Amino acid sequence: MTLPAAVRPGEEPVSLASSSAPFGLRDLDPGLASALAHGLARVEELLVASATSADSFVAATARHLVQAGGKRFRPLLVLLAAQFGDPSAPAVVPAAVVVELTHLATLYHDDVMDEASLRRGAPSANRRWDNTVAILTGDFLFARASNLLADLGPEAVRIQARTFERLVTGQIHETVGPMDGQDTISHHLSVLADKTGSLIATSGRFGAMLSGAARDTVEVLTRYGERIGVAFQLADDLLDVASDSLTSGKTPGTDLRAGVPTLPVLLARASTDPAGARLRELLAADLDDDDRHAEALALLREHPAMDAARAETRRWTQAARTEAVSLPAGPARDALVALCDAVGVRDA
Ligand code: IPE
Ligand code: IPE
Ligand code: MG
Ligand code: MG
Repeated sequence: MTLPAAVRPGEEPVSLASSSAPFGLRDLDPGLASALAHGLARVEELLVASATSADSFVAATARHLVQAGGKRFRPLLVLLAAQFGDPSAPAVVPAAVVVELTHLATLYHDDVMDEASLRRGAPSANRRWDNTVAILTGDFLFARASNLLADLGPEAVRIQARTFERLVTGQIHETVGPMDGQDTISHHLSVLADKTGSLIATSGRFGAMLSGAARDTVEVLTRYGERIGVAFQLADDLLDVASDSLTSGKTPGTDLRAGVPTLPVLLARASTDPAGARLRELLAADLDDDDRHAEALALLREHPAMDAARAETRRWTQAARTEAVSLPAGPARDALVALCDAVGVRDA
């Protein structure tokens, strides 16, 4: 039996603030922990309200993944960034909901593209209903995000439009792959920056900008978001190989099966070690076959490419940390530094 973390022998009991801390951020300043808990509760309320519809079927499909949970990483970053201005500025919570709705919509679409079955521990919308319903529900959530965005002013609308352009361009570049002569790894890292870093950068920007933080603080938090966003996706891609579905809420090996290139796969393919020959052979083949897929996943887990990808993840969390430490000192800066560690070791 696994004891709750608070009573595991040899460990300090966790305080109420840290046990309810978002994204595993322990030892948060109590004032900040309570401000974040309050902010996230308001985000949750507006998120649920934004995903409802007078049409009961649309309400059910839109509610499906909102209710299934999720880490709310992007809203958390909006709220943390808003600590550098006036955290109670009226646009902060709606901006956090805009980024979460946008993210959520991309998850509905992503599960169609990756033919995924499990999301946030629940059946994906494409499995529970079908691809058409999943795609249209994603579109519905984009519409709801735009509706909130309209009240945040033209600059926020333009930032979001450009973010979304980067996000989908990243997805397209991932699908198409590198051009002739383009370095595979640098192409891959630019895909991660575009498809994931862009929205996380905008989370930092929105929080800082809409709370009225200083102009250079807005830029630092944008760069921080972009870097931690790339680390977040690299960690996610490692989890696709190494984690189990009970922890991640997703099916392990989904990227491998769908042929989505990830850093460990690209590094394993490029390796020349004799021990990796069988893995390279499998990676060149169709991995829709269950036995070949299971064998490839097991070999990849043990391949040195995993450690090399972990080292790359650390480089990006370190780059984010370098940005964070340049921010004005205080509990929010400490939390952003701690978030770099949390992303590097996350298991969900
Ligand atoms: C999953 O994002 C997609 C990626 C960009 C890696 P999250 O890991 O934030 O998913 P939820 O919101 O917690 O479900
Ligand atoms: C998420 O990438 C794509 C977006 C950022 C839109 P993944 O395909 O890695 O996400 P998961 O692993 O399915 O959550
Ligand atoms: Mg996916
Ligand atoms: Mg993934």
